[in-house]
Amino acid sequence: MGSPTRSSNSRRGNEMMRLLVTTIVGVVIGIFLGVSFPTLSLTKLNLPSNLFGLINLTYIEEKYSGLSAQDLLNVLSSLKKCRGHSHGHKHSDTKIWVPSNPRGAESLPADIVASESDLYARRLWGLPREDLIIKPMYLVCFTVGYEQKNNINAAMKKFSDNFTFMLFHYDGRTSEWDDLEWSKRAIHVSTRKQTKWWYAKRFLHPDIVAPYDYIFIWDEDLGLENFDAEEYIKLVKQHGLDISQPGVASNSELSWRMTKRRNDTDVHKETEERPGWCTDPHLPPCSGFVEIMAPVFSRDAWRCVWYMIQNDLVHGWGLDLALRKCVEPAHEKIGVVDSQWIVHQTVPSLGNQGQAEKGKAPWEGVRERCKREWAMFKERMAGAEKDYYYKTKGIEPPNSTSH
Ligand SMILES: *[C@@H]1O[C@H](CO)[C@@H](O)[C@H](O)[C@H]1NC(C)=O
Ligand SMILES: *[C@@H]1O[C@H](CO)[C@@H](O)[C@H](O)[C@H]1NC(C)=O
Ligand SMILES: *[C@@H]1O[C@H](CO)[C@@H](O)[C@H](O)[C@H]1NC(C)=O
Ligand SMILES: *[C@@H]1O[C@H](CO)[C@@H](O)[C@H](O)[C@H]1NC(C)=O
Repeated sequence: MGSPTRSSNSRRGNEMMRLLVTTIVGVVIGIFLGVSFPTLSLTKLNLPSNLFGLINLTYIEEKYSGLSAQDLLNVLSSLKKCRGHSHGHKHSDTKIWVPSNPRGAESLPADIVASESDLYARRLWGLPREDLIIKPMYLVCFTVGYEQKNNINAAMKKFSDNFTFMLFHYDGRTSEWDDLEWSKRAIHVSTRKQTKWWYAKRFLHPDIVAPYDYIFIWDEDLGLENFDAEEYIKLVKQHGLDISQPGVASNSELSWRMTKRRNDTDVHKETEERPGWCTDPHLPPCSGFVEIMAPVFSRDAWRCVWYMIQNDLVHGWGLDLALRKCVEPAHEKIGVVDSQWIVHQTVPSLGNQGQAEKGKAPWEGVRERCKREWAMFKERMAGAEKDYYYKTKGIEPPNSTSH
């Protein structure tokens, strides 16, 4: 029983010898290659000691026993990949390091990492796995003030038990909603005088709302008499809409024709605007966008849109025209649901709660900021795209990206 150990020991010794030689040869050739291919950055490789703990030497040695230059390149570049992790981690080979974990959590074993969460309320007792009788598949969020309690109460009746309710209170009055049965199981977030997109950025991180197939992020002044959320979702699924809104019934002219409800179809994805408004029938405002008043996002679309929301541009103006950057092809996956439609009631709310300044009414200051934010957003987007195309592709941004 002794000989296997001994022979394996001496085998290991041989291997170490061969490995050392190949390593030295490798380093020499590597330096040569590094001179010719500076991107490999051999000086940063830091080959000895800590790398050996990270990789299976037997494996490497077996795989690369007949080292050609290409093989060597492969080894070196795979070692290079380890570099980032070995840096600053002078750990022994018993330390855990899982590069595929979320950033910052690499020292945890993968199976314990809970990278996503949910908004489901749980009990304080009993078995955790028996906590949730139903797991709502959809999320609806309204940004509300107490003045709109009756309207919101009526609206909530249009959303089934398949929905988690979330209210963002901009007036600090949360307990006044307690008499409503649904409000007791709703999630209330209260911060004074903030906007829908401010809340959405902070409280609807894609990893937190990950369990929901669809997310509604709606204004408070919508009339939902002709709307049913379950029916709406059926249509959205059927027509493959990743970003949508219900058609808006209005007697007056809307800002955009795209969102106006049509009475001859279930869903529309394009529209005819006033002459000269659209450079391309597949681009906003003729298609590929919905307004920010009552958008509905699929999980995947929201994950992208969330990243596009700017922390300081709280009114979200201009966001609607950029939504198309998150779905492909936008003119097919963004649309308006006509047969489940809403009424825009235009009641005074946050828009009136600015600050009276320089002889201007509070609403004027808010409106001015909305417009300024729109200009800033456009500028940032154009700048970011330009940067991308110049730096990573070395070309002018294509015309279709600008708006
Ligand atoms: C190392 O690689 C060899 C060959 O692929 C394999 O037989 C061995 O089990 C590996 N050892 C470890 C510790 O993974
Ligand atoms: C909830 O969703 C399920 C699955 O889509 C559906 O069968 C059920 O009818 C929905 N519940 C209500 C109240 O609509
Ligand atoms: C549908 O809309 C068109 C144009 O808006 C209107 O002329 C027509 O009367 C409407 N039809 C119905 C059945 O409401
Ligand atoms: C982009 O637009 C410019 C000016 O608007 C025009 O001259 C150019 O030909 C366009 N390029 C493409 C690829 O359409």
